[in-house]
Amino acid sequence: MDLQLKGKRALVFGSSQGIGRAIAESLIAEGAKVVINGRSEEKLKGVAKDIGAQGFVAADLNREGESLNVSKKAVEILGGIDIVVFNTGGPAKGQFLDISLEQWKLDYQNLWLSVVESLSYYLPQMKSQQFGRILFITSIAAKEPLPALTTSNGLRAGIEGLSKSLCHEVASFNITSNIIQPGYTNTDRLKELKLSDEKVKQMVPAGRLGTPEELAGLATYLCSPLAGYITGQSIAIDGGVTRSH
Ligand SMILES: NC(=O)c1ccc[n+]([C@@H]2O[C@H](COP(=O)([O-])OP(=O)(O)OC[C@H]3O[C@@H](n4cnc5c(N)ncnc54)[C@H](OP(=O)(O)O)[C@@H]3O)[C@@H](O)[C@H]2O)c1
Repeated sequence: MDLQLKGKRALVFGSSQGIGRAIAESLIAEGAKVVINGRSEEKLKGVAKDIGAQGFVAADLNREGESLNVSKKAVEILGGIDIVVFNTGGPAKGQFLDISLEQWKLDYQNLWLSVVESLSYYLPQMKSQQFGRILFITSIAAKEPLPALTTSNGLRAGIEGLSKSLCHEVASFNITSNIIQPGYTNTDRLKELKLSDEKVKQMVPAGRLGTPEELAGLATYLCSPLAGYITGQSIAIDGGVTRSH
C-alpha cells in the first residue's frame, strides 16, 4: 500500500532511541523527510546517519522554550512541516507524596507545555496549507492509572482532552490529532523495570512485550494522508492489557 508519505516533512520528538526512533525510521522508509530530537547531540548524529534522517536538533524538553526552538529549527531544515509526533522520556516515578512541586513542574513542561509551545507555532502553518498530522505518544496510564506513576497518570490523561479539543478545532482544515497509548513495549526504558517473562505473561494477555516496530506501523499510518478521516482517537497498543476499557 502506498501511504502517500513521499516528501512529507516530519518532526519526531524524543527519537534517538526506542519508540520515537522506530517511528522516525518507519516514516523515512515510506519516503518522508524527518528531523529527529533528543538530548544527546552525539547520539542523534549517529542515529540520523543510521536511519537517513534529514537532520536533528538536540534539546532538553524539560526546559521552557526548547520545544519551540526545536520546532523552528525543524522548519529551517525541512522547509515546512506536515507531521509532528510528540514523544519524550517518561516522567518521574513515585506516588503523590513522593513527588516535589519542582518535579511536577519539570514533568508538566516536558509532557505538556512542550506540546503547547510547538503547536502554537505549527498549527497556523498547518491550517494555511490545509494539511497536518499531529500524533501524541502517551501511555496506557492515560486509560488505566498505573501504580507509582502519578505524574504520568495525571498529565497524560490531560493530553487526551487536549487532543480531542484540537480535533474539534482543526478537523475541517484536514489536520488530524490522535494518540497512541503504548503498553509494555520492549525499549531501554522498559528494561529498567526488569520484568521477568513470568510477570509479563501474568500482566499481558498476548504473553509478551510489544515491539517499537509494531507501534511504529500504526503511527506511520496515522501520520499519512490516507488516515485523514481518523481524528480525535486514542488507540492502545498493549497486547490486550486494557481490554476492558
Ligand atoms: N516502553 C514502554 O513500555 C512504554 C509504556 C508506556 C508509555 N511509554 C512512553 O512512551 C515514551 C517513549 O518510551 P520509550 O520506551 O521509547 O523511551 P526511551 O527508550 O527512554 O526513549 C525516550 C526518547 O526520548 C528522548 N528524551 C528523553 N527525555 C528527553 C528530554 N527531556 N528532552 C528531549 N528528549 C528526551 C530520549 O533521548 P535522550 O535520552 O538522548 O534525551 C529518547 O530518544 C515515553 O514517554 C514513555 O513513558 C513507554
